[in-house]
Amino acid sequence: MTTVLIAGGAGYIGSTVASACTDAGITPVILDNLVRGRREFTSGRAFYEGDIADGALVDRIFSEHPDISAVVHCAALIVVPESVADPIGYYEANVAKSLAFVSHLHRNGCDRIIFSSSASIYRAEDGSSVNEDSPLAPQSPYARTKAVCEEMFADIAVAGPRVLSLRYFNPVGADPELRTGLQLKRPSHALGVLIQAHQEGRPFPITGTTYPTRDGTGIRDYVHVGTSPRPTSRRSSASTPSSRSRSARSRSTWAPAPAPPSGSCAPRSTTSSARRWPPWTPSRARVTWRGATPRATGRPSCWGGRRSCPWRTASDPP
Ligand SMILES: NC(=O)c1ccc[n+]([C@@H]2O[C@H](COP(=O)([O-])OP(=O)(O)OC[C@H]3O[C@@H](n4cnc5c(N)ncnc54)[C@H](O)[C@@H]3O)[C@@H](O)[C@H]2O)c1
Repeated sequence: MTTVLIAGGAGYIGSTVASACTDAGITPVILDNLVRGRREFTSGRAFYEGDIADGALVDRIFSEHPDISAVVHCAALIVVPESVADPIGYYEANVAKSLAFVSHLHRNGCDRIIFSSSASIYRAEDGSSVNEDSPLAPQSPYARTKAVCEEMFADIAVAGPRVLSLRYFNPVGADPELRTGLQLKRPSHALGVLIQAHQEGRPFPITGTTYPTRDGTGIRDYVHVGTSPRPTSRRSSASTPSSRSRSARSRSTWAPAPAPPSGSCAPRSTTSSARRWPPWTPSRARVTWRGATPRATGRPSCWGGRRSCPWRTASDPP
């Protein structure tokens, strides 16, 4: 059986990748310092609590799991406004620690790495969407840490290790079986803010209404988080998805969505742009996988599990 190390595997995307790996017959081993992740998301999985820059810990993981054949690197700090306020902390956490991590991996003979990058490194020019050929011009310290890491990994890849950078667009929702999901009570991105505005009965702040788009608001692309791990888990192993995940999905039910909250106008974000979404055509021609979350199951899990939230605990802040 294939074993994969998932750094940041207690976080939103990493834990979903871990579930997708399990469903595909791949054993996930989790490394996470829990600075943002949740311990419950590691339940039933081999879990090492610690930092990706901790060489002794990485050495121990490989000595106890010599069969690890690839690493999915999702460990990072990801809040854009926080990165503007603390750029040194973000370069330290995302760039310096990633460099230390890859050197620890190399020392342990691991040369297959999938890096969670971000579509925020593209320049989203007004009047056009972005695709894999769009120019790169990250707009925030967070996005620049991802771009710097990509360059760093590209240089490292020339010398040996194979590194694949996946540039995710905005992932939303939860694992279709609600094993994991968005773990933050107050997420900073649009869907979380929208749900929260609804729950609290206040208007949803629309950040920018004077962009050169049809209604003046920014255009964004959202991808169900259950879709992103599919290519990730396939890249890290040749295993195929099990029938278990398919039958579990077909059992799910959905409830009608509530009425949307009203909107209120708020200033544009300095790190945002009018459009950031990909046209389908170039990607469809290049990739062999398809997003497979059916509408019927996408709807409840698109709420990020907020209706049932099996991972919420009594100690969570309101
Ligand atoms: N969520 C998004 O909208 C989005 C979009 C594009 C790309 N990404 C990328 O995907 C990756 C995962 O994002 P996420 O949304 O799951 O974030 P997250 O905060 O939910 O998960 C990150 C995980 O990494 C852990 N971590 C952070 N620094 C660590 C360190 N030094 N050592 C060990 N563990 C550490 C945290 O505890 C957390 O569990 C990030 O690299 C992010 O840049 C996220």
